[in-house]
Amino acid sequence: MHNFTSASDYMEKCKSAADYIRSRIDATPRIAIILGSGLGPLADSLEQPVEIDYRDIPGFPETTVTGHAGKLICGMLGGKSVLAMKGRFHYYEGYDISQVVFHVRVLRLMGIDSLIVTNAAGGINTSFRPGDLMLITDHISFFAPSPLRGRNLDEFGPRFPDMCDAYDKDLIKFAEHIAEGIGIGLKKGVYAFAQGPMYETPAEIRALRVLGADAVGMSTVPEVITARHCGMKVLGISCITNMAAGILEQKLDHAEVMETAKRVEKDFIRLVSEIITNWET
Ligand code: HPA
Repeated sequence: MHNFTSASDYMEKCKSAADYIRSRIDATPRIAIILGSGLGPLADSLEQPVEIDYRDIPGFPETTVTGHAGKLICGMLGGKSVLAMKGRFHYYEGYDISQVVFHVRVLRLMGIDSLIVTNAAGGINTSFRPGDLMLITDHISFFAPSPLRGRNLDEFGPRFPDMCDAYDKDLIKFAEHIAEGIGIGLKKGVYAFAQGPMYETPAEIRALRVLGADAVGMSTVPEVITARHCGMKVLGISCITNMAAGILEQKLDHAEVMETAKRVEKDFIRLVSEIITNWET
């Protein structure tokens, strides 16, 4: 499913996609938010929305997962122009890793400098409960192909980018402060990437725990690496939709993930809305 013939072809496709989106919206948003499984309803709270189907954007892959709508919505939230992506591209869908992160580079070309990434994740830390919201402090991407593999795209960033501050420390503090102000409890932790689409085995979860992971999921990490490569600030929020494999005496299924995401939808929307409203750009 690799449909880019060369780095310059890829760059041209990114530019065409950014030009197309710009032609459809009046605003020049600087904040974008990628909405994970079941977290899409946040996009409905944007005012004066302009909706663009992914399938209309040149070069954009189509999303294939239930709970991921495949729409980009530009609108106002708390007086700020925001781009929300309802649906993302997962490696397990069969895309080449450069396609999985295509949208991040398009966002950068559009002038986005702050990215909020959200996802549904399995809780590995046994002090977590389904329904918890977790600020991502760091990630483990050993089990993912790098989205920066291949010729470096110098227009975006350096060959060997630093990943020490993948998740912006000031934004983490700011999000904690906002959450406290509105009485929403937050966990913090390390997110480990798993390729999926199968859930992990109990042994894999024990191994990830030993490695230092607090939560596991099938997205986000390639996007964050790409966003950091091109200099965007990142805030990551996981919704712990289930305890990871082997922790509880029950099987994992996508319906549970969607149900828990629905249950915390209100808190999640409130938290993100307050964060964006009070965000100094
Ligand atoms: N594992 C991987 N991805 C997930 C999980 C999980 O337990 N829950 C939601 N996304």
